[in-house]
Amino acid sequence: MEVVILPGSKQIASLAADAVEALLRRKPDAVLGLATGSTPLPVYVELAARHERAGLDFSRVRAFALDEYVGLPAGHPESYREVIAREFTARVNISPANVHVPDGAAADIPAACRAYEDAIRDAGGVDLQLLGVGTDGHIGFNEPGSSLASRTRIKTLIEQTRRDNARFFGSLADVPHHVLTQGLGTILDARHVILIATGAQKAQAVRDLAEGPVAAICAASVLQLHPHATILLDEAAASSLRLADYYRHSYDHKPAWQGL
Ligand code: GLP
Repeated sequence: MEVVILPGSKQIASLAADAVEALLRRKPDAVLGLATGSTPLPVYVELAARHERAGLDFSRVRAFALDEYVGLPAGHPESYREVIAREFTARVNISPANVHVPDGAAADIPAACRAYEDAIRDAGGVDLQLLGVGTDGHIGFNEPGSSLASRTRIKTLIEQTRRDNARFFGSLADVPHHVLTQGLGTILDARHVILIATGAQKAQAVRDLAEGPVAAICAASVLQLHPHATILLDEAAASSLRLADYYRHSYDHKPAWQGL
């Protein structure tokens, strides 16, 4: 796990976009794993700008969202299918047919989850997975207690997460209780994982995920088992880390050839 502490979200967005750009130049038909939430938005803005300005080409890219609410009507503005399109994929040249989101409206939920796992596998697996983190340490919607080997499935949201996400819905009552999410085992299969956290409200989750034990009580701690996980933080999100000075020193002295 590499922890990189940067001054703010602009620098984080630029570094994460560099990683996506390097991947697309190497592999134009790469498979991207996309996260929702507010944290990755500056990355999407930066990628859209690079597409606009420099022709960064997404025409052959395939994309898989991490998760989706269960039970929202098709076209609901806060469904993650809509959010991902609005915030990112419609602003670059990814074909809508290549953007996959778990089907939270499926009549047969277990079958929809299996189909999602199959689709990721048939695409060759995720090359680069972007992640945010919940204040309770969830990634995707893998709430505390999630199996570290879990695959795409239905989960029940913890009330803290519903409260955190109520700002998007207007009222807490409108936030669904159930979601579909890639499992922790699914996320671990991605070849490279970049988790971004900003703001003091994420400091405890960041400490738990990077420096705590690998334990289901902090789902994101499973990334300690990933061979290529990069954690991009601003100063506030990094403020509770014990080894912050070591992370800064390592990044400052990183061999130039290594990249992210
Ligand atoms: C939601 C998403 C997560 C995201 C989290 C944090 O619960 N399912 O993928 O990481 O919110 O959101 P934010 O980045 O807005 O803090």
